[in-house]
Amino acid sequence: MQPFHPKPPAGRPPYVIAHRGLSGKAPENTPAAFSAACSTPGIDMIELDVRLSRDGEVIALHDRTLQRTTTGNGRARSYTTAELKQLDAGSWFDPAFASERIPTLREVIAFVRGKRWLNIEIKSDFWFRERPGVLERAVVETVKDCGCEDYVLYSSFDHRLIANLKRMYPHTQVGVIYNIWHDFGRLPSKLAARAHASVFVCAKFELTRSMLRDAQRAGLAVYVYTLNSRQDVRKTVALGIHGVLSDVADEIIGVVQSSPGAASHSNKNSA
Ligand code: G3P
Ligand code: MG
Repeated sequence: MQPFHPKPPAGRPPYVIAHRGLSGKAPENTPAAFSAACSTPGIDMIELDVRLSRDGEVIALHDRTLQRTTTGNGRARSYTTAELKQLDAGSWFDPAFASERIPTLREVIAFVRGKRWLNIEIKSDFWFRERPGVLERAVVETVKDCGCEDYVLYSSFDHRLIANLKRMYPHTQVGVIYNIWHDFGRLPSKLAARAHASVFVCAKFELTRSMLRDAQRAGLAVYVYTLNSRQDVRKTVALGIHGVLSDVADEIIGVVQSSPGAASHSNKNSA
């Protein structure tokens, strides 16, 4: 597998990125969702959300609390990995997935390594902030330990965290995720520059033509989430973006590849 590059080579379609694994077909951020994404040809990358357990292990979980996607309650950070492993992380989606457990990042990497790139989205808890460096170190050291540094993109809504991660680990590939409430009116180039990011990620409804022009001028790769309908994919790919995050990545591969604009990429400005 080639090392991760923020932009596809010139003339190639945007990356297809399975958002929280193949989360339209299996419970998000579980081994079942990652396994489904790995076995689908045409998926380039897998996005997952990570945070810390009480004992400092990096786990894959979107929400800060457990109730939406597991049989547990309360903050995930209050429980040890062993306690979290008791929870059923699949029944909420479908009883057939009752045996799914919250995976650790280490487990996800062991499974995905050599098959797909990983977009590790680091969730920081705005109410209970970790001390600077704690989360960044835990995540990157896990990836380094697994020998996967070249196959990972780190991203976050927390741009300070990304800037700090990049300072601590200058050879990483990092992206900033746009938060319309927090970042409204700020250009992608400015947000990315502060964190030394080469990727700008935003929601489909947030992307304006002026933002896109600014990102393109700055040589940034632009990834858009969450594109689940063919119409959304066609429209967005035609703008000349570089990555598409989708819950149904398996269903949109053909549309991404055949959309007008898909072949118009250039990576000459890549960071
Ligand atoms: O990384 C893009 C996307 O995953 C950010 O939103 O809430 O799905 O993690 P969310
Ligand atoms: Mg995410």
